[in-house]
Amino acid sequence: MMYQKKVNHSVTVGRYMEKKALALGWGEEKAREMFVLGYLHDIGYEHCTNTKDHPTVGGLMLKASGYKYWQEVFWHGQVQGVYSTPELLLLNEADLSVDANGNLVGVAMRLSDIGMRYGFGSDEYNGAKELAKKLGLGKMMGNTFVPDGYTPEVSVGECVE
Ligand SMILES: [Fe+2]
Repeated sequence: MMYQKKVNHSVTVGRYMEKKALALGWGEEKAREMFVLGYLHDIGYEHCTNTKDHPTVGGLMLKASGYKYWQEVFWHGQVQGVYSTPELLLLNEADLSVDANGNLVGVAMRLSDIGMRYGFGSDEYNGAKELAKKLGLGKMMGNTFVPDGYTPEVSVGECVE
């Protein structure tokens, strides 16, 4: 089931992706598409029985609707994926920078957030940490991975009602 918090997370992931896409010079149209991708990336929570399946469930829901980036949704959050595109890398970076409540907190706090909710020995925590490492969202200090802190490089604004 999709809860309000998950919607808040998705909106901020979308905003992060739109801003970063513009900063990368992907153009207005593509940047809007990246907002939509971020907004939709966790849609699979609505119909999964095991939350670990939400990317595949969501990806297949969107494939059935003819959505262009269904594979990015299908493969998001996975360390060992055979599929890799710039859009998927951006989605994973955004997802690893926004906490469960929809706050842009940076990778270090996002990992702590996942660790506190699922446990620091959980598959969720270890998977997210490995993904951050693979994406280069931090530094190696000897054998220890130190994730990036918050940088205001991509500030996420809100529409005023
Ligand atoms: Fe997700």
